[in-house]
Amino acid sequence: VVPPIVLNDGSLIPQLGFGVFQVPPDQVFDTVTAALRAGYRSIDTAAAYENEEGTGRALRHFGLPRDEIFVTTKLWNSDQGYESTLRACETSLDRLGLEYLDLYLIHWPVPAADKFVDTFRAFQRLKADGRVRSIGVSNFRVTDLERVVAETGETPSVNQIELHPRLVQRELREYHAEHAIATEAWSPLGQGTLLGDPVITRIAGEVDRSPAQVIIRWHLQLGNIVIPKSVTPERIEQNFDVFGFELSAEQMSAVSGLDSGTRTGADPATFAVGLDT
Ligand code: A2P
Repeated sequence: VVPPIVLNDGSLIPQLGFGVFQVPPDQVFDTVTAALRAGYRSIDTAAAYENEEGTGRALRHFGLPRDEIFVTTKLWNSDQGYESTLRACETSLDRLGLEYLDLYLIHWPVPAADKFVDTFRAFQRLKADGRVRSIGVSNFRVTDLERVVAETGETPSVNQIELHPRLVQRELREYHAEHAIATEAWSPLGQGTLLGDPVITRIAGEVDRSPAQVIIRWHLQLGNIVIPKSVTPERIEQNFDVFGFELSAEQMSAVSGLDSGTRTGADPATFAVGLDT
């Protein structure tokens, strides 16, 4: 069973979840169903992925009690602002077919700080109204987090960031630890690019596990919430089977030693530039 992480508002999130980034809308029903069958109870989507509807259908069709699943979605940049955020949340809830979200995240700290502060104020309102249980952010830098805390008086529960062995995010993880913000890793496998790395395959041989399992285990032992994506049922199952072994301290630091600051996705520092939505 997946250990929970306690968020700063007292809610529990499974440490291992399933991400549907880049899962095409026409595949998401089968993919989420495969994940639920494999045992995942936390699903991470976003309005921008355009697959909330299929995700929601799979959740309802599978038929677990609502309190046994943890559903995260994200507010897209063009919906930032107080009133538009309230509307966007209702739209996401409708598409998912849910009465409430377990976690709602601001997808990016753009287009501007005053906007994401207003957005987070709307998140506080949604939480007070019971539409959302926990509120957090994604792709926020330290300065963005400081701004939200200073202006709203509330610390986000989660910051979901690109994080994998080539982008270890030491500064942000330390800041999160000091401020009781949970670190959630997106593209935890570096979108698959790390699976052939010689250090990873060497350790995979040592522990008799796959490269993906080694990397997911590294995340778990670092304390990250981790949401690997796959559309392949066998990999979906494999990525969930990561609680029967451990990496040694030497293996952990060898994986962390791959850090080269390399991103597979957008950089929050430059993403705002040229953004016109
Ligand atoms: P696919 O979806 O075709 O199965 P990330 O979560 O870092 O974004 O990585 C997702 C990528 O890694 C996808 O291309 C996915 O392929 C691939 N992937 C996920 N799990 C595994 C695995 N256990 N073995 C090999 N590739 C995997």
